Amino acid sequence: MNITKSQILNSIKKIQLNGFNSNHLTLNSIEELELKDKVLKLKISISDNLNVEALKEKIRLQILIDYPEIENADIQIKHNATNRDIFSSTLQKKNSILPGVKNTIAVASGKGGVGKSTVAVNLAVALAKDGFSVGLIDADIYGPSIPLMLGVHERPKVFQSENSVKMLPLEKYGVRFISIGLLVDDTAPIIWRGPMASGAIKQFMSDVEWGELEFLIFDLPPGTGDIQLTLVQTIPLTGAVIVTTPQEVSLIDARKALMMFNRVNVPVLGVVENMSYFIAPDTGKRYDIFGSGGGEKICKELSVEFLGGIPIDPRIREGGDNGIPMVYDLPDTEYSKIMMNIARNLVKQVNIQNSKQSDKIEIIFDEN
Ligand SMILES: Nc1ncnc2c1ncn2[C@@H]1O[C@H](COP(=O)(O)OP(=O)(O)O)[C@@H](O)[C@H]1O
Ligand SMILES: [Mg+2]
Repeated sequence: MNITKSQILNSIKKIQLNGFNSNHLTLNSIEELELKDKVLKLKISISDNLNVEALKEKIRLQILIDYPEIENADIQIKHNATNRDIFSSTLQKKNSILPGVKNTIAVASGKGGVGKSTVAVNLAVALAKDGFSVGLIDADIYGPSIPLMLGVHERPKVFQSENSVKMLPLEKYGVRFISIGLLVDDTAPIIWRGPMASGAIKQFMSDVEWGELEFLIFDLPPGTGDIQLTLVQTIPLTGAVIVTTPQEVSLIDARKALMMFNRVNVPVLGVVENMSYFIAPDTGKRYDIFGSGGGEKICKELSVEFLGGIPIDPRIREGGDNGIPMVYDLPDTEYSKIMMNIARNLVKQVNIQNSKQSDKIEIIFDEN
């Protein structure tokens, strides 16, 4: 039998893997193709930031399924230069802008009002409770809500450091944070344009004295437009967490957010489903107000990790309005246990991501 590059490409395009965007592949990506004694030899070059071993295995399986005549496949994957550049430039960027910060994580959502800021705040407090040093940047400069949710409205202190003016982050519940809401009047409308927005976030990274942090979390503005796209390219990100609610209108936008991060090569560390269900306090009966299983469904569909599902609980809203995050105030509730679990699942994903990246450094060295 004979096999063509376009047949192989069709098989590869069926594959779904986190961080892998087969739309980037062309016939030219297939550098070698040879079928001999029912064994296929294939060499492709890719530019995505992902786990190469997992992709190799998926390609091998897909080819064996699609072409039963082929008995085995030997796959080689080569990262092309753009990938190397993206990867090393992210690291370099992080080390120059945020030298003391180990991991930077964006909390994002396709839609507003899904509980993104609530998740960002409670996640930060949960990580701090587990002993990590944590920072939080309110990057939602159109609707800054972190000062309200942490119950702090002081102006950050500024001081002269060498030849620049630096700002000290505020601290509450073990979390260092900064927000435009601390710097401008609450009632004043904030009219930013895209470049100003990313300029403000750059300053939050470079002009704030963060010190040493294991995690710096960014509460991004909702949506997947130009402003969000610019921001995710401005911040050197370890990865992103996507918050969604279970119903289809929210999932559509969560998918768009996933695609946005894939496009700019930022790994999606997982999805958090908020407002997953409601337990009636009087009867204990569970109500799936916005449907169920939506978050898990898109995780399967797009091969990303499901970090957990959070119930609807009026105390979450009260905690937000009163500046006392529920995970801090009511540690024994189901909500707080789930939140701690989500934080631990996230730490696991960050560790996996970091070990993948050190694998990639090896690949880069091997090639040279
Ligand atoms: N699981 C939940 N149960 C009850 N109220 C919630 C829950 N998650 C968020 N809220 C409330 O919903 C509102 C919107 O949440 P917020 O975090 O501000 O959303 P976003 O940042 O996505 O716009 C807030 O009043 C918040 O307290
Ligand atoms: Mg918000």
